Amino acid sequence: MTRYRIAKMSGDGIGPEVMAAAVKALEAIEETSGVSFDFVDLPVGDELKARTKVALPPGTIEEVSKSDAGLFGAVGDTAKEVILPLRQRLDLYANLRPAKVYPNVPHIKEGVDIVIVRENTEDLYKMIGDRGEDWGINIRVITRKASERIARFAFDYAVKEGRRKVTCVHKANVLDKTCSVFREACINVAESYPGIAYDEALVDACAMKLVMRPEAFDVIVTTNLFGDILSDLAAGVVGGLGMAPSGNIGDKIAVFEAVHGSAPDIAGKGIANPMAQILSTRMMLDWLGQPKAAAAIEGAVVDVLREGRVLTPDLGGRSSTRDVAEAVKAKILSKES
Ligand code: NAI
Ligand code: MG
Repeated sequence: MTRYRIAKMSGDGIGPEVMAAAVKALEAIEETSGVSFDFVDLPVGDELKARTKVALPPGTIEEVSKSDAGLFGAVGDTAKEVILPLRQRLDLYANLRPAKVYPNVPHIKEGVDIVIVRENTEDLYKMIGDRGEDWGINIRVITRKASERIARFAFDYAVKEGRRKVTCVHKANVLDKTCSVFREACINVAESYPGIAYDEALVDACAMKLVMRPEAFDVIVTTNLFGDILSDLAAGVVGGLGMAPSGNIGDKIAVFEAVHGSAPDIAGKGIANPMAQILSTRMMLDWLGQPKAAAAIEGAVVDVLREGRVLTPDLGGRSSTRDVAEAVKAKILSKES
């Protein structure tokens, strides 16, 4: 029996709702896969800040780094005080965001299976800037070191997952000081991977093509802000944020979270789609080196979606978050070998 210590940061709004669903799926994994989880609850976010004036308590980062992996729900307005420091201080430099079409999920195009690899530590998210009464400045920082590291991550991922192409997305025609560094780094790294095709797209054209010909993309590697925007766009192409998982991955530790935020418009109603968070646990299990357990989650999600009886409203159904979690759990348990 392998035991994992999981840092669990549920956060605000629908964060705790989808986290409870993800934990339910992991309970089924404990019963079937010979792995078990010790969850360490770490409060973060808006509600905590309202009570204690701190959104990310001291010691949280250390607790996460002492764990085998982290699971993050969502926070609201304190996102920049919580998830950005987590990513930057734990050096979770790669933000892996798959966008794939699942059965019975309303989508724009067939056959989409894209992975966006977003640089997660620099760019405008360095939070360097200033604000006056009538002006604001945010400074964009792009380094060769971080760019080569993310490019290498994207190519290694492509090799490992049997993918055929990496597309570097930038805006070097206009953002010549910063995107040129990123682009050169990608070109350099691409030379070491002759088995993987390499091409480039300007971010604006890429946005259009993601809607009109998404099947043309395989792995996309891009800078922090472009990756943030394009990954929500890609999620929209394959059925919305309720279906978009992600991993913030470093060399020593990784934190997995749904791409979505706290969704105040539906929080407390019990109707959030938990699949994005459940699929994030699938990514976590893969990263922990538990491919069978990961496949069990993926298979259960696919089965529940294909049957189409238990779907949340964003997918055209009438079921609750909890119903979906129970259905996924039951599928995992039914496959017990
Ligand atoms: P959002 O991702 O929370 O919601 C956007 C839209 O998608 C809403 O209509 C919401 O109802 C829907 N949606 C999101 N997740 C869903 C799910 N699982 N099932 C069904 N529908 C879902 O983005 P929004 O509204 O722009 O931001 C709300 C708050 O979340 C803000 O305070 C923002 O700062 C924060 N945020 C936090 C993030 C994080 O914790 N990593 C990431 C993005 C936003
Ligand atoms: Mg985002």
